[in-house]
Parts: sequence; C-alpha cells; structure tokens
Amino acid sequence: MNPLSGPAVRPNILEMTPYSPGKPIDEVKRELGLDRVVKLASNENPLGPSPKAIEAIAEAAKSLHIYPDGSSYNLRHKLSERFDLPMNQVIVGNGSDELLHLIGLLFLDGPNDNIIVGYPSFSRYDASAHLANAELIRVPLDGDYVHDLQAMADAVNEHTRLVYVANPNNPTGTIVTKAEFDAFLDRIPERVMVILDEAYFEFAADQSEYPNSIDYVKAGRNVIGMRTFSKAYGLAGIRLGYAFVPDYICDAIDRAREPFNVNLLAQAAGVAAIGDDEYVARTVAVNREGLDRLNAAFEKVGAKPVKSFANFVFADLGQPAKPIFEALLKEGVITRSGHVLGAPNCLRVSIGTPDEMDYFIEKLFKVMNVSPVGEAVAAASR
Ligand SMILES: Cc1ncc(COP(=O)(O)O)c(C=O)c1O
Repeated sequence: MNPLSGPAVRPNILEMTPYSPGKPIDEVKRELGLDRVVKLASNENPLGPSPKAIEAIAEAAKSLHIYPDGSSYNLRHKLSERFDLPMNQVIVGNGSDELLHLIGLLFLDGPNDNIIVGYPSFSRYDASAHLANAELIRVPLDGDYVHDLQAMADAVNEHTRLVYVANPNNPTGTIVTKAEFDAFLDRIPERVMVILDEAYFEFAADQSEYPNSIDYVKAGRNVIGMRTFSKAYGLAGIRLGYAFVPDYICDAIDRAREPFNVNLLAQAAGVAAIGDDEYVARTVAVNREGLDRLNAAFEKVGAKPVKSFANFVFADLGQPAKPIFEALLKEGVITRSGHVLGAPNCLRVSIGTPDEMDYFIEKLFKVMNVSPVGEAVAAASR
C-alpha cells in the first residue's frame, strides 16, 4: 500500500504477489512444537551440496576480502568447455531467478509488450511482466498437465516478446518432447525469444525424446536455455544459475546486470560442482527411487500422481489439497499445496532421502486415513 502522502510506488509493483517460498524448517518446529520436520517443499537436493563444491567454498572463503571476478571468467570458461559453446554464449547469475529477471529487463518495455507462459508454471516468469508493466498471457496446460504448445503458439501476437517453456515444468514435472518443441518453435516468429527453462534438466536428460536447449542455441535459433546449480548440484543456498544465449544477449546482459552479480563463493562452487558427475549420478539415482515410491504411495491413497521427470511429484488428490497440506504440516512434513499454485486439488511433494520418504508416506497414509497393512502398502512404503 502506498502512503497517503509521499512518493508513491508504481501501481504495477503493488499488484504483484511476493514469492511465497516453502516454510523454513525451524519456523515450523517452533510454531508447532515439533521435534522432527521434513521439508519437501522447494525441490532441493536431499543429499546436501556437492562435496567438491563444499571443498571449493572453504578454500575460496579465504579470499572473501576481495571482490569477485565481475565477468565470472573461470566459471563461464568451465561451462563453455563443458557444453562446447563459445564463452560469449554462456551467462551466469545469482540463481536462474536473476537471469529470468535480467532477460525480462532486456526485452520488456511497457504495456505494448506481452509474454506468454503456461499455467500453472513457474511463478517468476509472471514477475517479469509485472515489473515491466507488460501484459501477461497465461495459457492453461493441457488435460495431462503438459504445456499446450499449440495453444501457446496460437496466443503469440505482434506484441509478444517472450514465451516461456519450463521443461520439465514446475509444478507438474511434465515434459514436452523434442518433436513437439520443434514443431512449436517453427511456429514462433524469429523476433520472439523462447525461454526454455531446464532447471530440472539432469533429472530428465536420460529420456530419448527430451529436447536439449543447447542444440537450438548452437543452431542460432531464437532460444535461451536456462539451467541452475540449485537442484541436481545441491547448491540452492549459494544462488547460481546459468544460461545458453545467442551472443548479442551476453553483451546486453553485461550492460544491464550488477557488476558483481555472482559472488565469489558461488563462482568457486560452480567451477567445482560442474565436474562432480558422480554426485549428480547419485542424485539422479536417489531421485528415481523416490519418484517410484511416491507415485506408489499416492496411488495407494487414491490420488493421481502426474508422471514426473523432475525431483518432485504433483498429485491430484481429488479433493482440496489445502486441508491435507495443513494436516501434513502438523505432522511435521512441509509440502506445497496447489491452492497457491493454481491447482487447488493438487499437492506438490519434493523427493527426499529414503528415510524422509518413509516419514512422508507414513504421514500421508495417516492424514488420508489409509492404514498401512498388506503387501501393497509394504511395496509403496519401501
Ligand atoms: C522452473 C524453475 N526455473 C527456475 C527456478 C529458479 O532456480 P534458481 O534457484 O536457480 O533461482 C526454479 C526453482 O525452483 C524452477 O523451478
């Protein structure tokens, strides 16, 4: 709210809803007087950070009295080698959140511009439109909770500047295939930039039909591919994201960004983590097992889990999710209720360690009144 007198904040900012992160574990423990709380709300890595990154952070901490390298040279060089792209096609940011923010700044300039997003999808895309006072066009997902790429292409008009496709999508975990994305891209005018957000890339990469944003960027298409160290590399707390871009974007980002947008610890962590293939492989394996168990548990309680290619499951409970979310919270499990994500009957649950999955499944059965007896339950809970 603006004050009655005094400088007024722009109305489009006041129309925005602040991002609501999953509740912190300590807050839930304190408020509900619980000893054990498991957070399965923010799609974090249950294995903790990449060990190589922890080592590199400890070493880099000795240099915290100096400013970081403003160009993040070593990190961008490492990414450029790893993905076989020239350095001027790799950008890094304070989480992919910052890169989304910067990309919005580069392209959106008032009410004559619009962006197209799937719905529900990642809410930070919407923020770019609000911040620029641009129009937000939401295109509902199809009946299987997958981006409706045909409807999204149909929605493009002469004012469209950006189209966002999260693949896998958050909150649903669904993917579009390469054939679908190719057909979609062929329908998008060249003056429109497509943001292919691959925050969960590593979890879906083994799918043969899964498109890879690098191929489109290398081919000179109007595509930006976005990735993050927050999920498969377990570095959400340090804030580090990267993107593959057409070269003129790198130059524009350098003009628009803060001079030291990626801090010194994050740069060191990223350089070390990108080579930690063993850790990523372990992460993906633990995730696969967790997905299978969570799907089975949701089916056991009569819910419909959406087939997920990410590190979380979105399940249609067939009833409002909010009371179930609240009951789980009282039992010490933090999840994400679809009522804040645009799907009131759905619950999103991140994959945890096997032990955290045991805990969640026990609590899910309890709050949904399913008694854990018989072989089917044994299968679901192991
Ligand atoms: C689809 C998607 N894009 C981007 C992000 C932001 O990631 P980061 O932690 O790199 O800012 C998230 C985080 O949950 C996400 O789900």
